[in-house]
Amino acid sequence: MTEAVCLADYESLAAEVLPAEVFDFVAGGSGAETTLRRNRTALDAVSVIPKVLAGVAEADPSTTLLGQSVAFPVAVAPMAYQQLVHPDGELGLAKAASGIPYVISMLSSHPLEEIAAAADIAWFQLYWLRDRGVVESLIDRAVAAGCSALMVTVDVPVMGRRLRDVRNSFVLPTGVIAANLVEGSTGRAHQAAGAVSAVAAHTASVFNPALGWDDLEWLAGRSSLPLVVKGILDPEDARRAVAIGAAGVVVSNHGGRQLDGSVASINALPAVVDAIGNDCQVLLDSGVRGATDILRALASGAAGVLLGRPLLWALAVDDAGTALVRLRDDLIDVLLLAGCADVAAAARLATSRES
Ligand code: FNR
Repeated sequence: MTEAVCLADYESLAAEVLPAEVFDFVAGGSGAETTLRRNRTALDAVSVIPKVLAGVAEADPSTTLLGQSVAFPVAVAPMAYQQLVHPDGELGLAKAASGIPYVISMLSSHPLEEIAAAADIAWFQLYWLRDRGVVESLIDRAVAAGCSALMVTVDVPVMGRRLRDVRNSFVLPTGVIAANLVEGSTGRAHQAAGAVSAVAAHTASVFNPALGWDDLEWLAGRSSLPLVVKGILDPEDARRAVAIGAAGVVVSNHGGRQLDGSVASINALPAVVDAIGNDCQVLLDSGVRGATDILRALASGAAGVLLGRPLLWALAVDDAGTALVRLRDDLIDVLLLAGCADVAAAARLATSRES
């Protein structure tokens, strides 16, 4: 294959241009990669029951996420160290994300201010750090840079054991750094030890595993930005997130990179939507690979999806802008095929689960 015709095509194209250990760092999951695989099999098992004779000649994929108008119900998932796959890194992907939110990872390899300036809609993602002062300064910088939402990722008390990285003795290449952290840390100073990669060792030194509901409540009140809690799978946790003031949650297992054996996101989604769908927006990620998956998520109650690895693959081959335009076009076709004039109609579609 020389050219992608759909989002899923980029993975094999990227494999041809990326160093094997970088490809593995992006593609890999934790442990036996059971959850990584299950995300896909579970999405494939969701069948949508289309409406016919709907009299729909045009479909409008635009919607609102956190009250902000977006071109279609997709946001770029926060992903660390994007210069690993292309020198433009986050700046390239943020520019490609025309009309949709680009979520800046706290571990971005360009400073958050430069990325926010390149993006149409920038949201900022935080991990919970041992030093609360650093968390505060990052929030203040995100606000000053014009970010319009804060996303806190709650499924990384420690980094999942990514065995591909351990086997590859993966370290960040020279020049790829966590540009937002004062130390500009690369993790290179951290040695792989036993079954822990150098990147995981760095995470362990700066992340605070003791994040709890009190901290989240503090975070919700710390800025005027809407707070999105990423990494929710349990309906009771979703209720608590709403109770502390979350404006949104992302039903996510981190793309199968954290607890291996955890439930597929799409299977956790309906119960979370039942619990909090009337109070707050529910987004989904993990395994989304095209417009059909977006329709599956919408029909299962999500307000939209975050998209991860496929966009890094597209960035690697310098085609992220085209990839996203094509995805929007594909979504329009899929909406028409399902008899839906818009995203709200997709939310009313029935689904069934088939193995
Ligand atoms: C991630 N993810 C992630 N999540 C987060 O909250 N902060 C981060 O810095 C990162 N970094 C990161 C790096 C890479 C290389 C990957 C692949 C993923 C998880 C990400 O936001 C999202 O949850 C998953 O990628 C979604 O799954 P798919 O779409 O990749 O299957």
